[in-house]
Amino acid sequence: MMDASDGTASSEDISDSAYDLARMTDADPDTLAAYYDKWAQSYDTDLSKMGYDAPKRAAAIMVEHGVPFDAPILDAGCGTGLTGLALSQAGYRDITGIDLSLESLQAAEAKGVYRHLKKRDMNKVLAFGDNGFAAVQCIGTLTYVRETKQLFSEFCRVVKRGGIVCFTQRTDLYDDAFIKAIHATTKARKWEPIFHSDPVPYLPKHADFGDKRRIFFDVFRVK
Ligand SMILES: C[S@@+](CC[C@H](N)C(=O)[O-])C[C@H]1O[C@@H](n2cnc3c(N)ncnc32)[C@H](O)[C@@H]1O
Repeated sequence: MMDASDGTASSEDISDSAYDLARMTDADPDTLAAYYDKWAQSYDTDLSKMGYDAPKRAAAIMVEHGVPFDAPILDAGCGTGLTGLALSQAGYRDITGIDLSLESLQAAEAKGVYRHLKKRDMNKVLAFGDNGFAAVQCIGTLTYVRETKQLFSEFCRVVKRGGIVCFTQRTDLYDDAFIKAIHATTKARKWEPIFHSDPVPYLPKHADFGDKRRIFFDVFRVK
């Protein structure tokens, strides 16, 4: 049941976890893992009620930028697998997902679209070899990553030359420090920017997001 008056999901319609989302921005990894573990069961339903379409947009970006359908893709911060599902529906078949939340990873596994799923903290070095992926996508997750510059370097290390890095970041968190981390990675000639979107809706039917907090999609080609 939706609030028909202004198109916003009313607090009775979404779970407490969904309602609390904006308050989690500065949480530490243990708190985030517990929060997303608790939310895993109702996450997909809540996200649908809140009008979430970033997974579909991200999958379309992979297709538009020529990532081959049989190429290995890393879904960094895969959560319950909505992003992997969208990739699979677009035609991708070799998807690896990583996330902090074990319960979310179990929900992702149940979707049957990932080749590998691993529990990983993206604030640490990614435990993958060099050049193993054709692309990485990180959707709805950079919100929580503190070591952004290190993570960007890691993305460029695990993606082969000519591959794609695609991420979203909330407009309110796309600050000087975040831009500096992007520029440092560009200056180090690890990637080149190829696309920066206009701000697009993130959770248009969540009262704390709506028009206040949108997201940018960024795409880089790894050098
Ligand atoms: C908003 S959800 C997005 C999930 C999925 N990409 C989607 O679009 O539905 C954010 C995810 O980031 C994960 N996460 C947060 N901090 C993380 C970290 N340091 N390392 C790995 N995953 C993290 C959470 O567990 C959660 O599943």
